[in-house]
Amino acid sequence: PDIEEMLSLHDFEAVARRIMNRRGWNYYSSGADDEITMRENHNAYHRVWFRPRILRNVKTVDFSTKFWDFPTSMPVYITATALGKLGHPEGEVALTRAAGKEDIIQMIPTLASCSFDEMVDASVPGQVQFLQLYVNSDRARTKKIIAHAKERGVKALFITVDAPQLGRREKDMRTKFEGAAASHQEKGKDTVRRDQGAARAISSFIDPSLNWADLAELKEAAQGMKVVLKGVQCWEDAVMAAEAGCDGVVLSNHGGRQLDFAPSPIAILPSVVAALQQRGFMTPHATRGKFEIFIDGGVRRATDVLKAIALGATAVGIGRPMIYAMSTYGEEGVRKLVQILRDEFEMNMRLIGAPTLADVVPGMVDTRALFTP
Ligand code: FNR
Repeated sequence: PDIEEMLSLHDFEAVARRIMNRRGWNYYSSGADDEITMRENHNAYHRVWFRPRILRNVKTVDFSTKFWDFPTSMPVYITATALGKLGHPEGEVALTRAAGKEDIIQMIPTLASCSFDEMVDASVPGQVQFLQLYVNSDRARTKKIIAHAKERGVKALFITVDAPQLGRREKDMRTKFEGAAASHQEKGKDTVRRDQGAARAISSFIDPSLNWADLAELKEAAQGMKVVLKGVQCWEDAVMAAEAGCDGVVLSNHGGRQLDFAPSPIAILPSVVAALQQRGFMTPHATRGKFEIFIDGGVRRATDVLKAIALGATAVGIGRPMIYAMSTYGEEGVRKLVQILRDEFEMNMRLIGAPTLADVVPGMVDTRALFTP
């Protein structure tokens, strides 16, 4: 269909399902085990309701924001997803270019199909990029990656902590990995298993012994960059991350691709915010502190984003819809997706009575249904 027929983020998924090759579709769309968490990630947003306010002068609305001191046009970023060339011949640079033109932040994946330098070279001056890091058992390699990222101007390092072993994604495991889409240096030939789907073929270098004691060393290597743990799933670990001197956390279960029956991030957000506020790691809602809470998984509408903002998140990451848009319409598709979100933000902020994101406060949502079966 013509790109102008794309009206919502769901539309890109429907087209991707029809036109992507089976290997790519199976890798992108799969979740762990019975995919209960994957579905719940999205469904949980349906149990958060707004408490709209009226007569607030919403003639103009502003949803630009900052992650720490880095400005962006909206509280949404492109999260890291591996193997972009399974969906589109240009791979992740299509995401980079779209992010640059639409002024949103991209998190570069360790396991991209394009090289790290290609993704940095494709950015425009001033474009903010983050790097997602899988920590290698060979720490020297990880430190080299960190040093290079710093040198190339990456602003923040997101260390993925929810994948000491890759989850079982049976859909993906049924297709054999041919490796053509992956060019990243991390896949040593000796460790690649080609009979178990794309995910397992590329991930065997990840160090399952990674633990809290390793953080200091990684933080030191990353000095000058923000350091964030991606894949935090309860308030205790969010507090430990803050106590360890991290700059933020991503509440995430990897899009339901790791532990099935991990809770949906939106459901744990209120307890995380409360625990961090209680311990002084977050200043009160309206004046955001420097410890940032990001959240990803199942976000498909600006209303989902606004619910997360109301409950204390700085911003949300979007995964699958971005790569479905890339796979179907390339860079233009990703730009279209962002424009759809922009229209949704503008309208929905008017309708809830919030001229700016600072007006999107906890009192604007009703979470009772989130916690009652
Ligand atoms: C991911 N995700 C991911 N995360 C990460 O830290 N490193 C990675 O290499 C990948 N790779 C990856 C591939 C694909 C195909 C998907 C769908 C996801 C997880 C990703 O960053 C994010 O947590 C989820 O995608 C968010 O959920 P939604 O938006 O896809 O529902």
